[in-house]
Amino acid sequence: MKNKISIIGAGQTGATTAHWLAEREIADLVLVDVVEGMPQGKALDLQEALPVIGKDVQVTGSNSYEATAGSDIVVITAGFARKPGMSRDDLQAANAEIVRKAAEETIKYSPEAIFIILTNPLDVMAHLAMKVTKVEPHRVVGQAGILDSARMRAFVAMELGVSVENINCFVLGGHGDEMVPLTRISNVAGVPLEDCLPPERLAAIVERTRKGGGEIVNLLKTGSAFYAPAIAVTQMAEAILKDKHLIVPGAAYLQGQYGLKGIFFGVPVQLGQKGVEKIIEYKLNEAEMSALRKSAEGVAENIAKLKI
Ligand code: APR
Repeated sequence: MKNKISIIGAGQTGATTAHWLAEREIADLVLVDVVEGMPQGKALDLQEALPVIGKDVQVTGSNSYEATAGSDIVVITAGFARKPGMSRDDLQAANAEIVRKAAEETIKYSPEAIFIILTNPLDVMAHLAMKVTKVEPHRVVGQAGILDSARMRAFVAMELGVSVENINCFVLGGHGDEMVPLTRISNVAGVPLEDCLPPERLAAIVERTRKGGGEIVNLLKTGSAFYAPAIAVTQMAEAILKDKHLIVPGAAYLQGQYGLKGIFFGVPVQLGQKGVEKIIEYKLNEAEMSALRKSAEGVAENIAKLKI
């Protein structure tokens, strides 16, 4: 039996996620969107691309949630993207209604699915999806940490001229400007990042990482990043379907870890068939903990604004 992944929202991020996933040949794919014909057209185009790379994946596009029935994973990336001058939080009211509907409908057809949430503000949207679907917390995970960490890795690679494969970066916290790039734990082939770069260059990389999403929004002007978010989801989906027990940063529901409770927040998670199998707790120093608490306050304030 082939696995099945449904992607709700066939815009830039949804369609690019389908593209990366199809290349991995790990599941049949369904794209759902409200725009008539668009998910069908993108699905057919992708289906027609696959003979060239020899991948046997069925790709379906639909305007109806029925097509998602029996999904192992549901990716929710429907909703509005940022425009220049907007924060992710500015999207909350409009996107909450879209995510609510997507969660309500998909859980009906795929009661066993694991949910990966991308729609921003994603820590809040992951919380909403968990409440609406009423699934156990380990079955909902938000994508952000892999993306933010990959951005930081890319910036370090550009600075040092070292392979990205040697660069390990860890960005925790909410997916906003208060995210917490952990420079003490991040390393280049095992050498702490703080020993590889002068403090002012490291500070500049931290700042660019925090504002990484905004940098793309300002360049694109009409939307936000999609290649990097989409490959991050792909890595998460693959870890889940292959039961890899892969540890990556992701937004998980905290129940006391890092001294935080009742919010989705970016932490190292171990991903496998059950979704979030484990939350890994790093030993952080007081400055790192205080930065995490500051980031968590912002997420908690936004969750409080949700009408659940
Ligand atoms: N059901 C299904 N799809 C919907 C719905 C809905 N109720 N409402 C909107 N959509 C679709 C839109 O039609 C559009 O095709 O969601 C898609 C969003 O695609 P884009 O506008 O290209 O936005 P994208 O860049 O993919 O970002 C989507 O993901 O990463 C986050 O911040 C980003 O919140 C944003 C979301």
